[in-house]
Formats: sequence, C-alpha cells, structure tokens
Amino acid sequence: MTTALIDRFRDRLPVSETTPVVSLGEGSTPLLRAPRLSERLGVELWLKWEASNPTGSYKDRGMTVAVSKAVEEGAEAIICASTGNTAASAAAYAARAGIPALVLTPQGAVAGAKVAQTRMLGARVLEVRGDFDEALAAAQELARRGTHVLVNSVNPYRREGQKTAVFEIVEELGGEPDAFVIPYGGGGNTSAYATGLGELGSTTPIYSVEALHRPTTLASAIRIGEPVHAESVAAAGARIVTVSDEEIVDAWRELATLEGLFCEPSSAAGLAAIRKGAVAGERLAVTITGHGLKDTEIAERYAPPLILVDADPDAIAAAARR
Ligand code: F0G
Repeated sequence: MTTALIDRFRDRLPVSETTPVVSLGEGSTPLLRAPRLSERLGVELWLKWEASNPTGSYKDRGMTVAVSKAVEEGAEAIICASTGNTAASAAAYAARAGIPALVLTPQGAVAGAKVAQTRMLGARVLEVRGDFDEALAAAQELARRGTHVLVNSVNPYRREGQKTAVFEIVEELGGEPDAFVIPYGGGGNTSAYATGLGELGSTTPIYSVEALHRPTTLASAIRIGEPVHAESVAAAGARIVTVSDEEIVDAWRELATLEGLFCEPSSAAGLAAIRKGAVAGERLAVTITGHGLKDTEIAERYAPPLILVDADPDAIAAAARR
C-alpha cells in the first residue's frame, strides 16, 4: 500500500484529523548507496533519489502539505512562479484536489518537458516577460489580493513537507550522516532541511550548493538571481558552496554513467561540491532533486552522439567497437 507523506509523518506536520489529504503517493523515496562514486571520492556516499516522487522532483513533498492545507482553508485556486518543477507539482496536486492552478514561468527559461508536463496537468501557464524573481514578485502580489493561495516555498506548509526528507534519510541510515548536501536555488529546501534537523536536535551541517553564475546557469531549475530565502539560509548556518556550470556538468555525467542515475543538471550540484573537495566528512547524504527526463534538451547537448548504421550485423559490430 502506498503511504501518503502526510500520513507517514502526521505527528510532525501541521495537519489534523480533518485536514483533507491531497496525495499522489509522494515521499518514501529510495536512499541509494553510490559504490563507484564512493570509491572514487574516498567517502561513503548516499544518494536520496527524489526524482522518484510522483511528478519527478522533491517539490511533491511540500506540495502535498501546501495544497491539502489550502483546500482545508477554503482556497479556490493556487498560484506559483516557477523554473519548472514547482509548476508541475502545483499543477498535479491542484488537479488532484480539483482546483485550478495558475503558473508563472520566466519567458524562454524553463525546460520544455516541464512546461509540457504542467500544461498536460491542466494548469494555466503564463510566460512572464521577465526572470524568475520578477515572476515570483508578481505571484506574491496576486496572492496578497486574495484570489489565489501562493504555493511557492515562501508558503510555510511547503517547507514543512520538505523537511521530511531529512527524517527519511536519518531513519534509513540509522543515524545522521556527517553532512547533507543539496542544491541552492531560492533556498526553500535548505531552510526546510534546517527545520527538520532542528526538530531532530541535530547539528549536522547542510551544504547548500549554488551555481556560480546564478542568473544564467545551464542548470535552469536553479537559475535564480536573488534567493528569496537567503536570510534564513544564513541564519540556519548552512555552508554555501559555489560551483561552475562545467563542474555541474562533470558531476551530472558521473551520476549517470557511474551510478545509473539520470538527473537534471541542477540536481548534480551537490556532487559537484563534493568532487571539488568543498564538503567535509566521511558519510555524506546528497539529495538528487529532479529527474533527467525533465530536461532532455540539455541532455541532448551533452550526451554522446547517436550513430546511424545499416541493419547489417557486420556494420553494427564495427560501429559498436568504435
Ligand atoms: N533542484 C531542483 C530540481 C529544483 O527544481 C529546485 C528549485 C532546486 C533544486 C532548488 O531548491 O529553490 O529550494 O533552493 N526549483 C524551483 C522551481 C525554483 O520553481 O521549481 P530551492
């Protein structure tokens, strides 16, 4: 039986018996050993595979709580600004709840598959002439007018749901790792992990890994100029690491070829930080936040080329050796 995240962690979430549970079977994601990468890097590496959430990213952990609470509180519609994953998650949970979702995306800056996913899920998608920060400011203003509930991670229920990843990792490892390592876009997830750790009474460090050129990075999910949670990330004492696009791409390819995990580029930021020696500790939990199928355009740019052959065994054998 699939367990809803809200049911699994009910005692640690702001829900009551009467909260309607809007769930797609999120959470309870695999924590995978990474034997080849561990050997190569001389650490004990664990990968929290958040791509196995229903819409392909960790956003579903927070969205189930945010949408359930929105419905409980009588919301008639939800709104978000997004680089793509929050969009798809909001669309899915809104569909599940039977309420409309309005999604604002920065023009031309979101992976095509994420937009297609969001549109298929029935959300109204508006491309905003502007960047993510401007789209978020507009969404916040519309939410203030009272027509829509905002389901970006400035909504505290989102962060409440997202903190559960920490509980799962610690439970599965039978203790705390030496560090948690996650990408840093707006910082909502870092802030959520800090909350989760605080509730466990843990002082394990969180490494938040951001792109060197935030506004232009090829990792479009974390293409955010001004992180809205910067203050709480700093207050939580998260250790901020900066990685270049080249370092992200190298880590992204290694996750795929050495461990069989095809994620989106932003999700490889944590490994990129470890590869460059910026993370202290032996046993490291790295969160892989979103699926590679979310951004196939970028994969096509970096994957080895396709080779065309005749349907001839000799030609195929020769091509396979090359
Ligand atoms: N990884 C992925 C796959 C993301 O989609 C995001 C953020 C992050 C990491 C960064 O997390 O913002 O909490 O620090 N995506 C948002 C979105 C901005 O709209 O989908 P953060």
